[in-house]
Amino acid sequence: MSGFGDEFLWGTATSSHQVEGAQHNDWTDWEAQPGRIHDGTRSGDAAGWWGGEAEKDLARAAALGTNAHRMSLEWSRLEPAPGRFDPRAFERYRAILGAGRAAGLRMLVTLNHFTLPRWAARGGSWLDRELPERFALYARRCAEELGEHVDLWATLNEPAVLAFMGYLGDDWPPGVGDPRAAFRAIAAQLEAHARASAALRAVTVAPVGLVLNLPFFEPARPRHPLDRLAAKGQDWAFSGAKLAAVEDGLLRLPLPPRRVPGLAGSVDWLGLNYYGRYAVRFDPRAPAQAFGRRVQEGSVKTEHNDWGEPCARGMAAQLRRMGRLGVPLMVTENGMYDPSDTRRPGFLRDHVEAVRQVRREGVDVRGYFVWSLVDNFEWAEGWMTPFGLFGLDRETQERTRRASADAYAALIAEGA
Ligand code: FCB
Repeated sequence: MSGFGDEFLWGTATSSHQVEGAQHNDWTDWEAQPGRIHDGTRSGDAAGWWGGEAEKDLARAAALGTNAHRMSLEWSRLEPAPGRFDPRAFERYRAILGAGRAAGLRMLVTLNHFTLPRWAARGGSWLDRELPERFALYARRCAEELGEHVDLWATLNEPAVLAFMGYLGDDWPPGVGDPRAAFRAIAAQLEAHARASAALRAVTVAPVGLVLNLPFFEPARPRHPLDRLAAKGQDWAFSGAKLAAVEDGLLRLPLPPRRVPGLAGSVDWLGLNYYGRYAVRFDPRAPAQAFGRRVQEGSVKTEHNDWGEPCARGMAAQLRRMGRLGVPLMVTENGMYDPSDTRRPGFLRDHVEAVRQVRREGVDVRGYFVWSLVDNFEWAEGWMTPFGLFGLDRETQERTRRASADAYAALIAEGA
């Protein structure tokens, strides 16, 4: 599989709350409430990264032939009270980032991957009008303390997913369950991103990006006008409105459009998190879902969550679409939960092939990161949906290298 060149980033991805363990943030409190985590588990020690496991996992990643890793910083550790930063937490991140670098990995660091400090949750989470500015101050401090160990910055992970799960819905904290709150949470996160981007750029030269999750929505009956309209509507609400806003700074949902200060021109690169396809069929009883109902088969799903049907063609389509913004792109997450690890190797091959294809067409994709390096705490799903290239025994912290780790190593070897 040629066509990638020497500079292409082959990576894996993790996020702080999902692998570090021993957390004290809004999710810790959420997990303690009965019924919130569907399998009744808690993140607990997770994959032990706050202890000594991070370094070992990064060495495992490098041994696969990867040359990059995406991880996130835990805001609640670094700023345990507003304006009070913890030097020991910065020290620990310096050690982790340094170990990644020493193993030959370029480090892509997300400032915030869903979880909020308790003080931010008490203040209203993303509905607190002060939080975007607080986030920018945190961003600045991270750049000052950790900048020399970071190759690429991302501000936020998947603003729309968080808004849908925790503000429109009540599956994730803060569990609001109100569409107006979801719109406000998206606007606040875009504003926070823009302010943080300016703060990072004032301190470092490492490129700054934003990570969006863009599923592939298609009409269930390709020629049916109402299915097409419903699919377009769902895509616009979830993805299109955000992409357009990043492009010109105007957020068009809800109407009337409003300008997000500093958003236009705030990204040096864009990240795509991509899992699959949704086929949408017109349904007059679903006004809140743009009159669409998902009817696809073959989804990777649980009773509560649906990552869509594996569809590499959809990822190619989203990359082409993002390419029109004219900034370099990165697939910042792609993967599947597959307990038997039988389908994942083929899934990875198909999606890497899609990246190769769009690069050949001239789309500027510079990296591909598999979600995830090691099994981890999958939010409200708990521990029942393993996404790792490495399996995890949570009792012993032992890892098992899965067939998909070998498959990814082989893809990298062919591509490099
Ligand atoms: C993405 C999240 C990531 C992980 C994967 C499976 O939406 O960014 O933390 O949960 O899904």
